[in-house]
Amino acid sequence: MKFFIDTANIEEIKEAHSMGMVDGVTTNPSLIAREGRDFEEIIREICGIVDGPISAEVIALDTDGMIAEARDLATIHDNIVVKIPMTVDGLKAVRTLAEEGIRTNVTLIFSPLQALMAAKAGAAYVSPFVGRLDDLSQDGMTLVEQVVDIFDNYGYETEVIVASVRNPVHVLESALIGAHIATIPFKVLGKLAAHPMTDKGIQSFLDDWNKRNH
Ligand code: E4P
Repeated sequence: MKFFIDTANIEEIKEAHSMGMVDGVTTNPSLIAREGRDFEEIIREICGIVDGPISAEVIALDTDGMIAEARDLATIHDNIVVKIPMTVDGLKAVRTLAEEGIRTNVTLIFSPLQALMAAKAGAAYVSPFVGRLDDLSQDGMTLVEQVVDIFDNYGYETEVIVASVRNPVHVLESALIGAHIATIPFKVLGKLAAHPMTDKGIQSFLDDWNKRNH
């Protein structure tokens, strides 16, 4: 299973990368805005750190605008994947971009049929948002399960990026379902590594070591 990191913060990306946990990066306009720096500058810097798919999102909502932004973003680096929102205009953009060899990640997927349409249009990735569905008392992981099943049924090569991950259980369930990728916020990544029994075990080994007689 691939782990992407869901952040535009360079320090977080460097730290997670040094743990060997970063197969790719996803950003979105909110994450970029949080950094208070130039969009393109941040994306270039990320491409210099991580050798894997780096998602950068368009702002335009019309097909022509999305295509124009996508073409510009794709010139930044070969690893750029253009994030396109799941709309009819977005699907049209995905189709054109796929024909041009520009990879897309269709974002804001909240239903299995949206994911199917994105795959049919030629998306390289789809991003079902589990946490935001859970927030509405709908089961986000059921969506992931259905998308994975549909893609398996028809042999789509589109990869499923589990997005809007809020806790370690989201990552565990993604892995059990067989989702290709989870895009994980930095603070959740830390929680995956931690266990109180590990800390307790380390402490008791050290205590015993310090009590030895020689
Ligand atoms: C996905 O690519 C998005 O950047 C992200 O996972 C959204 O997560 P949120 O619902 O926590 O904002």
